[in-house]
Amino acid sequence: MKGSEYLADGPPSPAGPPAAPVAPFISRRGADLRYSSYDVLVVGGGIAGLTAALGAANRWNVGLITKSTLDQTTTFLAQGGIAAAMSPHDSPELHFKDTLEAGVGLCDEEAVRVLVEEGPARIRELEELGTRFDKRDGKLILGKEGAHSRARVVHAGGDATGSVVASALADVITSGGRVELHENEFVIDLLMDGGRCVGAASLGEEGELTVSLARAVVLACGGAGQVYSRTTNPLVATGDGHAMAYRAGAVMRDMEFMQFHPTAFYGAENPTLLLTEALRGEGAYLRDDAGERFMVGSHPRAELAPRDVVVRHMRRIFDRDATDHVWLDARHLEAAFLRKRFPTVYNGLAKRGFDLCTQLIPVAPASHYFIGGVLTDTWGRTTIPGLYACGETASTGIHGANRLASNSLLEGLVFGERTVRELNRYLAVADPAVRKVKLGLADEVREGNDPAAVAEGRALVGRTMTDLCGIVRDREGLDKARETLEALQASLAAPGLNVAELELFNLLSVAEHIVAAAILREESRGVHLRSDFPERDDGHWRCHILARRDPGSGRPALETGPVESREEA
Ligand code: SIN
Repeated sequence: MKGSEYLADGPPSPAGPPAAPVAPFISRRGADLRYSSYDVLVVGGGIAGLTAALGAANRWNVGLITKSTLDQTTTFLAQGGIAAAMSPHDSPELHFKDTLEAGVGLCDEEAVRVLVEEGPARIRELEELGTRFDKRDGKLILGKEGAHSRARVVHAGGDATGSVVASALADVITSGGRVELHENEFVIDLLMDGGRCVGAASLGEEGELTVSLARAVVLACGGAGQVYSRTTNPLVATGDGHAMAYRAGAVMRDMEFMQFHPTAFYGAENPTLLLTEALRGEGAYLRDDAGERFMVGSHPRAELAPRDVVVRHMRRIFDRDATDHVWLDARHLEAAFLRKRFPTVYNGLAKRGFDLCTQLIPVAPASHYFIGGVLTDTWGRTTIPGLYACGETASTGIHGANRLASNSLLEGLVFGERTVRELNRYLAVADPAVRKVKLGLADEVREGNDPAAVAEGRALVGRTMTDLCGIVRDREGLDKARETLEALQASLAAPGLNVAELELFNLLSVAEHIVAAAILREESRGVHLRSDFPERDDGHWRCHILARRDPGSGRPALETGPVESREEA
């Protein structure tokens, strides 16, 4: 196997560290190779990617590649809204405190300050761009969600915030012609040169391989909810950004923390319908089979306790009553209000034969938001020069061990915009263009894997993670999960140029990380619940878990790192 090379004009770039002795992820054999070149290549079309691409396009030549279409993102499905201190009864300080409290001791304070202080300006900019947030008498209507001390969730279209915001941003992208948009194009891997990221290789719908050289790459590929068999995330949320950053040698952080949303519709669909937390914010209850409101008396905020707390109490009910779901009750709320405020949920349930206004709705937790991600500073910089990350792909430290509801769209906006400011600084002084790159693609013919085996492999990852590394974990189950994932990995041939296969490899990589970090963290904190270590242990575990690829084995090597915070433990 030997690497292939793409030569462009100009002197050779400086030699970097020796390449890791791990087989190249992509084989070019049999593919039609094309080339593009940008100042900035953004990967991902959710709120963070759209924000970064739009901002960067004010000064730079920008390409945006998304694996599906702009209306098939996790952002597009977001219901609740965007948290920001927009009311005179609120302040960034209160938002800061709530975020830290929800994050159970692991939030990075500086990053949270940035989030809460810059958030309101980003919301106003979205409005200037044409986003119509829900208002009454000209004033924003602010919703309440779990663990917020104030009503501060800006929403649009009732519970259609994600699609309204994403459409507003996408309209500017598609009408302005300032960003070169490539939909249905799957970015497979990053291109590295001398330890610096210089672009990405992607697979088009016709099987063509495109080499996009770029002076900077922004990963905004969303999360990895599809690692689990029950998820609110769309089918495309397969951790591609996480996996490719890891393969390139970036440091990953807090991969054990996958947040489960308490109220996803109880059904066997993938993805499952989210029943927004804003429903509980408007007064909906959670009930057990006997009709009891089990959160009352369990937490001072009852149904509006932090998300991890609600999920833990649901688990308690599941164990006590030998069941796997509870009930969401909105029957006491006014029907006309429910239909207007929650059209997505109301219509989604109606399609499934349920009436939100008159029936109890069965709900159970589902994977929803991946806190773990590519380590970045507050300017989107990863540990690899030329590589940036924002949104759910990144780990800025704002979420700690449990994300505060509706801080994620805000994160995409705030850190997408800050990434642009940093790109402006970096590109003003960085090398003007990438001139010569060793692509590092394999030249062997790859048969790939049988599609049925790939589909079964994906299902196996989902089942394994749900059963053995889901809401509750223990060492025995985690060891079994690790063995199962390793056996699956060993049974697969190197991936061919096929999206389903490449996604499976990415899912496996992320699952391997989650399990490894979950084994290491011997305590229970936030969304990570170990039945064999049921207590929070600040003495040993008030720290982050960092992972980077061991160049010899290709496997994650883990270590702990400090929390950048002055808050009291
Ligand atoms: C929801 O609408 O409940 C989801 C909001 C979020 O995940 O932040």
